[in-house]
Amino acid sequence: MNRTLRVLVGLMGSLTLVVAQPSAQTTSTTLDRMTADGKSSQELARYVFDSHGCKSCHTVGANGKLGFTERGKQIGKGFEGCISLLTAMNLIAQVPEGQRTATQKQKAARFEEFGCTFCHRITPGKMALTEVGTKLTHLHLGCVDVEKLVASQPPAHR
Ligand code: HEC
Ligand code: HEC
Repeated sequence: MNRTLRVLVGLMGSLTLVVAQPSAQTTSTTLDRMTADGKSSQELARYVFDSHGCKSCHTVGANGKLGFTERGKQIGKGFEGCISLLTAMNLIAQVPEGQRTATQKQKAARFEEFGCTFCHRITPGKMALTEVGTKLTHLHLGCVDVEKLVASQPPAHR
């Protein structure tokens, strides 16, 4: 592969890192419709998993544990995973933006880049949830619930 091509491929890789998600409105309406149609929590969790960036790093997994895509494994090397990223963000949110260390700034940027801020909101002083995030909490579809539900689907539904 020549150099230009390599640079191009590298660029494409970093561009696709930004997770495309449906609008908050679309997600909200879809969840309402699925609930009204009597969809199971597994189906709701699968919708969240498929449309909100999870599947770019995770595979459906088994026994209540999500697996990892190649990209998830790669990214995982420089990012400790969802639980520790959120834990770190809880602390970072308390530090005024101008006083954050380079590492803290990088984590905050990744939190956004990975699509987490679609549902988790960094308000000065603490972590909160966006409107969609709050709705998902009420539906018991937080990240850990999604992992449990998605990773426990019978094989026929994968
Ligand atoms: C940018 C990549 C990336 C994205 C996007 C991502 N994850 Fe993760 N996630 C990881 C990595 C890497 C770990 C592994 C952490 C480890 O090994 O401790 C992880 C860990 C987790 C865990 C903890 C697993 C466990 O059992 O300890 C849960 C739950 C989880 N992710 C749920 C989600 C959900 C739900 C989404 C979508 C809303 C999501 N993740 C999106 C990379 C990602
Ligand atoms: C589609 C919405 C959505 C996206 C996208 C999302 N989350 Fe979540 N996540 C939630 C909701 C809702 C909860 C439950 C919050 C609660 O109960 O307070 C949650 C809970 C969590 C938890 C467990 C917190 C706890 O204390 O139990 C972790 C960790 C987490 N998210 C990390 C992440 C990370 C990291 C990303 C980005 C890779 C991400 N989330 C993306 C909706 C989302």
